[in-house]
Amino acid sequence: MLQVVDIACGMPKAELHLHIEGTLEPELAFALAARNGVKLPYPSVEALRAAYRFTDLQSFLDIYYAGASVLQTGQDFNDLALAYFRRAAADHVVHAEIFFDPQTHTARGVPFAVVLDGLTQAMRDAERELGVTSRLILCFLRHLAEADAFATLDEALPHLDRIHGFGLDSSERGHPPSKFERVFARCRALGLPCVAHAGEEGPPEYVWEALDLLQVKRIDHGVRALEDPRLVARLRAERVPLTVCPLSNVKLRVFSDMKQHNFKRLLDAGLAVTVNSDDPAYFGGYVNDNIRAVQDVLDLTVADWHRIARTGFEASFASDADKRRWVAALDAYVTAHGPA
Ligand code: HPA
Ligand code: ZN
Repeated sequence: MLQVVDIACGMPKAELHLHIEGTLEPELAFALAARNGVKLPYPSVEALRAAYRFTDLQSFLDIYYAGASVLQTGQDFNDLALAYFRRAAADHVVHAEIFFDPQTHTARGVPFAVVLDGLTQAMRDAERELGVTSRLILCFLRHLAEADAFATLDEALPHLDRIHGFGLDSSERGHPPSKFERVFARCRALGLPCVAHAGEEGPPEYVWEALDLLQVKRIDHGVRALEDPRLVARLRAERVPLTVCPLSNVKLRVFSDMKQHNFKRLLDAGLAVTVNSDDPAYFGGYVNDNIRAVQDVLDLTVADWHRIARTGFEASFASDADKRRWVAALDAYVTAHGPA
């Protein structure tokens, strides 16, 4: 008989919190470094992987931004994204909303259009070859100035037919959402949905700001929201989705180990939680690895995982028709495999 974890891993699902630069596996990093004549500051794939021991968000970001230096051509971004889609499809991801950080690349002289062309070509190929649909969310780096975000938005304007939303990532502490209130007002005026990382390392106040000042549709991470009962009540009442990334939270020491993670308490508080991989090449795995790690210690039911997967589809920025189709396929899967 199938175990709960096998049923959960087999469910069709959406991934809503995934940084495409965070899918750069060490093997591909070395291959691209060789192709582009870039020297990585590590002698081997093993040495690079061994460096993935983080003490907090910043210690990860330092390595993550350094790794991105091997990404130079449209083909590199295409190879990166297609490798992610293949891996995600193996985990039964049928829809992915992926973040990209254009400022990481334009600051190195890689043109915005080169990044975008490479990623969108892979998105088209993934839909045709794998049946995986996707959306692209442009993230502003919050450690940089508001003026830099406005300049990036200006660069994006000619390409809005291929950008489906805006987000906010990078070093959270000391860079509250309020810093980008005016940028996000302009993003919303363009008619595109916004999301923001908040309440990962930062306090619940940053989640309030993301909701009230940036008017986001989803909170990325949001695990620290549980420290504020009024905030929990608000998130529940408004059904604001939280894109939780359990392995990321443990790797970056938001929680000391998976047993300490508040995922079950978020779920039991009636919040709209989803499970995502964030930066899978750096944090120990893709979406099903996250499901396995959670199930290992939290012992959820098939009904819990059904609800989590359904929330993922409902919280996506896809059309209502697509959402209905995916939820129907999910319901049929759960009916066929039954509660364990
Ligand atoms: N938090 C903030 N910024 C990021 C992350 C994250 O988890 N991953 C990539 N950029
Ligand atoms: Zn993230």
